[in-house]
Amino acid sequence: MTTTHRITLLPGDGIGPEIMAVARRLLERVSALRGFTLRLEEHPFGGAAIDVCGEPLPPSTLEAARGADAVLLAAIGSPRHDHLPREKRPETGLLALRSSLGLFANLRPVKIFPALLEASSLKRSVIEGVDLLVVRELTGGVYFGTPKGRVEAEGRVRAFNTMAYFADEVDRIARVAFALAASRRGELCSVDKANVLDVSQLWRERVEAIHAEFPSVRLSHMYVDNAAMQLVRAPRQFDVLLTSNLFGDILSDEAAMLSGSIGMLPSASLGASGPGLFEPIHGSAPDLAGQDAANPLAMVLSAAMMLRLGLKEEQAAADLEAAVDQVLAAGFRTADLWSEGLRRVGCQAMGDQLEAALAGRLSPA
Ligand code: IPM
Ligand code: MG
Repeated sequence: MTTTHRITLLPGDGIGPEIMAVARRLLERVSALRGFTLRLEEHPFGGAAIDVCGEPLPPSTLEAARGADAVLLAAIGSPRHDHLPREKRPETGLLALRSSLGLFANLRPVKIFPALLEASSLKRSVIEGVDLLVVRELTGGVYFGTPKGRVEAEGRVRAFNTMAYFADEVDRIARVAFALAASRRGELCSVDKANVLDVSQLWRERVEAIHAEFPSVRLSHMYVDNAAMQLVRAPRQFDVLLTSNLFGDILSDEAAMLSGSIGMLPSASLGASGPGLFEPIHGSAPDLAGQDAANPLAMVLSAAMMLRLGLKEEQAAADLEAAVDQVLAAGFRTADLWSEGLRRVGCQAMGDQLEAALAGRLSPA
C-alpha cells in the first residue's frame, strides 16, 4: 500500500494559475518517482472565486481545505476586485482561510542562493551567508482585533483598528519560534514596539516567560524600527525573528529583498493541528499574468515546504529544492532575475528545466 496524501490546490488570481501549473507537474513527477500518491484537487479562491461564486472563500473551498492533508496556494488579488467592499475582497478570503484553519504560525525562511548573490539590490558583502527565519503570528494582532470600523461624528470621519493580543496567543507563537530557534543556531530575536505600545509590553513579558522553557536559546528583543534597519544593515546577525502579525508582514517583504527577488520566497502557515497552508510570499502580480513571464520558484519551494512540514516527505522536499538549485546554477532565470549572460526563460520553460533536473537527479545512474 502506498501512502496517499490529499492536497487542496488554490491557484487563485493573476500569475497564480501559471505558477501552480508548474508546481503541479513537479509534484506529480516527484511523487511518482518517490513512490507515494498525491490526490490533487483544485478549488476556486480569491478573485477567481468571486467571479464564479460571488465570494472569495466559498464554503466548498473551505470544506475541501479542512478535509485535506495540506493546502497549497499560489496567489490571490486582482485590480478587477479592488473596488469591492472589504468583506468581498480576495484578501478577506485569505484572512478568513488562515483564521478558519487556525493557522497562527507563519514561517518565512530567507536564504540566499549563491547563484543569486548579484541579483539583490544590496551588496554581496551584506547578504552573503544570510539564513534567517521570520516567525510571524498570523491570526491575531491588528489584522483581527476589535473594535474596528469607521464612524462619523460631528462632521469628522474616523477609522480605527485594534492591535491586541491575549497572553496565550503570544505564548503559543513564542513556543513555535523558540523550538525552531533551538533546531537552528539557537538565537531568537523578538520584535516589538514595547517603548510605545501596551500590546508590545505584554508581548515582551510573555516571550520572556516562555524563554524559561527553552534555556538553550539565546533571546534578544528589538524594536521594530530598529529591526527594519538592521535587516538591511547587517542581516547575518539574525537567526529566528519572532514578530506579531503586522510587523511580520512588513519585515518579511523587506527580508525577501535580501534574496534578490520576492519571487524566491516560500512560506508555511501552521496551526496546532489540521492541514497547513503553503504559499509563496509574493502576490498575484496582475501585470505579469498571462504572459508566461512569472517566476515559479517560490511556488515550487512552497511545494517543497509542504512536502517536508505538511506531509513528512523529506526526500521529495529535498528533491524539489535541489532541482531549484540546479536550474539556477545552470543559469536559467525568469525576467525578474535575468541579466546579461544568463539564460532567459518563461514560466513554463522554467518548469521544463525543473522537471529535467528532477528526472536527472532521480533516474538510476
Ligand atoms: C502576506 C500578504 C497578506 C497579508 C495580504 C494579501 C492579506 O501581504 O501574506 O504577507 O497581509 O498577510
Ligand atoms: Mg505581506
